Amino acid sequence: MTVRHFLSLLDLSADELRGIINRAIELKAMQQRREIFEPLKNRTLGMIFEKSSTRTRVSFEVGMAQFGGHALFLSPRDTQLGRGEPIEDTARVLSRMVDGIMIRTFEHDKIVRFAEHSQVPVINGLTDLVHPCQLLADLQTYFEQRGDIRGKTVVWVGDGNNMCHSWINAARLLDFTVHVACPEGYDPLPEFVEPAGERVRIMRDPLAAAKDADLIVTDVWASMGQEEEQAQRRRAFADFQVNAELMLKARTDALFMHCLPAHREEEVTTEVLEGGQSVVWDEAENRLHAQKALLEFLMAEKV
Ligand code: CP
Ligand code: NVA
Repeated sequence: MTVRHFLSLLDLSADELRGIINRAIELKAMQQRREIFEPLKNRTLGMIFEKSSTRTRVSFEVGMAQFGGHALFLSPRDTQLGRGEPIEDTARVLSRMVDGIMIRTFEHDKIVRFAEHSQVPVINGLTDLVHPCQLLADLQTYFEQRGDIRGKTVVWVGDGNNMCHSWINAARLLDFTVHVACPEGYDPLPEFVEPAGERVRIMRDPLAAAKDADLIVTDVWASMGQEEEQAQRRRAFADFQVNAELMLKARTDALFMHCLPAHREEEVTTEVLEGGQSVVWDEAENRLHAQKALLEFLMAEKV
């Protein structure tokens, strides 16, 4: 049997994605009841982090522990990866020892090459191109709060970055529309926009884009690896802040999401982040439940 990887949401069918979201909601309820459920007993997940992380690291590590398994944190600073051992060699060696591997890195191509040489499932914990694990949690959160997202309007405000690309992929799979409000020069890549067809609209006016939105989403203006562009980006995105005025354009029952970490008073005001429409803390918690559903899907024995 060929091994399944999760490098992008598009590695799942729409039915599989819906299945993982529903399972995440079930696993959350089981965890809240403190039920012991250990489908990954004695299994190990290797986790390679070439960028910083709070949520991704903790959610995978805790998820593996709750499932009766173990997670191993590997940083390039103290593995041979940081000293130039080829990614292909690392993949072959690690995948002979662990049962699954999560990677957070820069170039997406690196995780693709890793997966090509891995005998065990590889999970994308964020690359410069996409952040599919975050979308599992975001979709779970939307389904919990409002039901199915099919036919809804999601408004992305800010950089056409890895999170924006992942929302576009989600729209293709689950049949909803994404309005991307971004300044010129910061559009999502055509390789994501073009195949999405009518599901995505690039707009320059965030207030117009937010009209009738069911969900407003944003992210930092400078992602990890873009630290030197910070000042220039602050100027470019000055008019792309999610604030009370923008939220007023959306539907009255619209939600606000942010993958975190957030920069208050830059991409979002404190008022919105801490306000009644914000579901960011549920979204963060759901990283745990959604990734447990993913780990079970990829790594547990099928009975
Ligand atoms: N949202 C997210 O991926 O957070 P971390 O960078 O803390 O993992
Ligand atoms: N776009 C952000 C997401 C962080 C979770 C980044 O890549 O830094």
